Amino acid sequence: MIIVIDGPAGSGKSTTAKAVADKLQIEYLDSGALYRAVTLIYLEANRDSETFFRLLDQKKITFYYIDSQFHVCIDGASVTDQIRTPEVANLVSKVAAMPKVRTFVNELMRDAVTDGIYIAEGRDLGTAVFPDAKLKFYMDADLSERARRRYNELKKDNPGLTYREVKLNIAERDRQDTSRDKDPLIQSKDALSIDTTDLTFEQQVDRICLTINEQLLN
Ligand code: DC
Repeated sequence: MIIVIDGPAGSGKSTTAKAVADKLQIEYLDSGALYRAVTLIYLEANRDSETFFRLLDQKKITFYYIDSQFHVCIDGASVTDQIRTPEVANLVSKVAAMPKVRTFVNELMRDAVTDGIYIAEGRDLGTAVFPDAKLKFYMDADLSERARRRYNELKKDNPGLTYREVKLNIAERDRQDTSRDKDPLIQSKDALSIDTTDLTFEQQVDRICLTINEQLLN
């Protein structure tokens, strides 16, 4: 069984979905992390398309969720930290816009969720990847609030980073994610909408857990 949360960067999807997974003891899948891992392969290919698609065919991306952390490995080596660098953040939407990349990541995800109950988060999960998901949420928040959250999250490990840079990166990713031809970020008609601008983290988690409990687990 699959539950999906879609929405733009910084809307609170990841932290909320992880907390929901931990609370309800279900599996968690972070589709953005997979696009980020593919972006590392693109960088390894020196942004050359032919080399990139050859490497993508050869390399094995694996992932698992443990101790509230979504881990990603390429050929068995962890890239969990590397996928969070500003270099990857700046490039990932461009890589994720390539139709072949989307097909590749979609297959990885569909193969992974055959067993158990999953909460998965991304941009197009309710529309393109899992249109038959049991329950769909769409989380959003004002751009300034999303940038503030992402900045607070990243500044510890990136001391030179500024709020302005983060806001520009998020605005640009919004633009690319909503305007790409294949499977853009868009709210699925049957998704429950949650605006998190004025919600605390606990309120976001409670709202989703309550809905899941009411609609699926009882
Ligand atoms: O959620 P995130 O910031 O880690 O996602 C990284 C990028 O991956 C995001 O800018 C767009 C892309 N993405 C996507 O195109 N489709 C998804 N289902 C998830 C992420």
